[in-house]
Formats: sequence, C-alpha cells, structure tokens
Amino acid sequence: MSKVLVTGGCGYIGSHTIIDLINNGYNVVSLDNGSNSSLTTVDLIEEITGVKVINHNVDLCNRDGVARVFAQEGDIDTIIHFAALKAVGDSVAEPLVYFRNNVTGLINLLEVADQHEVKSFIFSSSCTVYGNAEKIPVTEDTPWQEAVSPYGRTKQIGEQIIKDFLPVSKMNAVMLRYFNPAGAHESIKIGEAPSNKAQNLVPVITETAIGKRDEMYVFGTDYATRDGSCVRDYIHVMDLADAHTRAMKFLHKQDENSQLEVFNLGIGEGVTVLEAINAFEKVSNTKLNYKVGPRRDGDVEAIYANNKKANEILGWNPQRGIEDIMSTAWEWEKNRG
Ligand code: WQD
Repeated sequence: MSKVLVTGGCGYIGSHTIIDLINNGYNVVSLDNGSNSSLTTVDLIEEITGVKVINHNVDLCNRDGVARVFAQEGDIDTIIHFAALKAVGDSVAEPLVYFRNNVTGLINLLEVADQHEVKSFIFSSSCTVYGNAEKIPVTEDTPWQEAVSPYGRTKQIGEQIIKDFLPVSKMNAVMLRYFNPAGAHESIKIGEAPSNKAQNLVPVITETAIGKRDEMYVFGTDYATRDGSCVRDYIHVMDLADAHTRAMKFLHKQDENSQLEVFNLGIGEGVTVLEAINAFEKVSNTKLNYKVGPRRDGDVEAIYANNKKANEILGWNPQRGIEDIMSTAWEWEKNRG
C-alpha cells in the first residue's frame, strides 16, 4: 500500500487533497509547520473521513527535521509537495522570505526523498510561471515570460530544479500548474483559511460580505479585457484535489525512472474580477461593498488554461464553475465564524 507524504497537508489545497486520497484508499501522512495553516485541520479531516492523519510539525528549511520525518515514517513512496508561500502581493514585498521558503524547502525535500527511495513526486506549480502570456489560453508548451512576481519566479525555479534533478534521481515527477484555486469542501468543515491576512479575491469577497472587512477594492478596471478587470481561471479546490489523486495514479503506472510530465489545472475558461463579484452577489443574494482602486503590482492582465492534456492523459474533467466556487466559499465563510 502506498504511503503518501503530503507537505502543506494542513493548508488549503493540501487538506482537500488528503480527503480525496483517503476516499481513494491511500495511506497519508502530513508535514506542515503551520506557518500559514491551522495544525488542527487534521482533526477536521478526521471528522470528514473518519481517518486520523498524523501531521509532522516540521519546517522544510530544517533539513535534519525533514530527514527525521522520513526515518520515522520509513516507507514513504510518494510525495505531494504543496508547502510554499503563495501570495503574489506578499512576495513582491518580501522576496527573500519567498526564495528561502519555497526554493530551499524544495531542495531539502528532494534531497531527502531521493535518499529514501521515494519513487513519485508531485510538485505544486502555478500558472504564474507563464507570466503575462502572449497567447491565451495557455498550453503546457506556452513559452514562459519573465515572472511578474517573486512568487511566480520561485515556481519557475522550482520547475527547473526538478527538471535538472530528475535525471540523476530515482524518481518520476509530475508538475501541476494550478490556476486560481477557490471554493470549499461540500461538508463546509474545511475551506480557505489562511492564518495570514487573506489576499486572494474569493476570501476577500466573502470576508467583505460577512463584515470582517469594511470594504474591498477591485485592483484596476483599466485593463484591455472585456470589462476592464483582470481575467483568471478559477478552479474549485475539490476538482484540484481529484487531479492530484489522478496524477499520482498516473505516476504509479510509470515503470521507468526520471519520467516528467506537466499539466495545467484550470477549467479552461476566463472569468473577470467583476464577473466573479457578480457571481457571488447572485449566489449569496447580497450586494458587495467594493470600490475600484489602482492596479496591484505583480498582477497579470489575463490568463486561463487549455486543460486538454490533463483531460486526455489523466482523465481529469473538472465539474465545478464560478457559482459553485462562490456558493461553497460563502457557506464556509458563514460557518467558520
Ligand atoms: C485574482 C484577481 C487581483 C484581491 C493566484 C494565487 C497564486 C497562484 C495564481 C496558484 C487579480 C484581483 C484580488 C482583491 C482584487 N495560484 N483582486 N481585489 O494574484 O491571480 O494569484 O493565482 O498557485 O498562488 O494567489 O490571485 O486571488 O490574489 O487575484 O481585485 O482584494 O483578483 O487583482 O486580478 P492571483 P488573487
């Protein structure tokens, strides 16, 4: 039976993926230092699945700590690596924090994993690797532009590190480029709950609607898009979770070493900020208090996925749209108190 180590397992996408892995019969352990998550999330996972998941409270920048986890757990054969800082705006303000955490953490993990004969490695990458792509929707072969934020650059560097390391390792790897993850598990027991101030659009919308924020800003309506606001590909976190389990099954079928595949994980359509707000107002039957403000540093004007490759090779077919995202995110916000 595979033992899967999920780094960032107490975080947003990590916790939802653990639920999908458990529902598919996998044996899962988590590694998370709680820097942007609540370590009690494993209790909520147990409430939802009935399965107790052990979390190792270790910082990936502490190489010895990482080695101790592998020594304790013994038979980890698959890693799904989520643990990273991911706020575009924060990364512009604190680049060195982002490089140390996202790049050093990855190097330590790869080194220890290969020493412990890990066979399958899934890397949480991001559509930010494309930068301001010249042609959208983007495919996995779309040439990268200059990353527009240190966050995006750490994902570009991360992908290059894996590409260079794999041929001299005993591992196979998949790199999953998420578009904009959002929404919450249907049980409404878990959802997006960053311990730092929410920066992403959907939690900012729900926090404004419930009154945790007096108002919110739309960062620019002077872009060359259909309504002037930025275009993104919002993907429900449970569709993302499903893609990880499928990617792992795909890796487990590989009988060579050093196989590397990359997949775009978006629903394949673009939604503007104003359209996302309208979708929220529709499903919540509330009027959102927002103002139009200046553009935000690090934002790309428009991006959404061509997700044909994940559909054809992984059999991945995302089911949920922006209204599902907004309704589950709103229920989660009302439930989390
Ligand atoms: C979306 C749009 C903002 C807040 C995300 C993840 C990142 C990566 C890529 C996975 C932008 C606008 C936002 C607000 C606003 N995904 N906005 N007012 O920057 O696309 O990055 O996707 O790895 O990890 O963070 O997401 O939700 O911050 O912004 O107008 O208060 O909403 O300008 O156009 P972003 P976001």
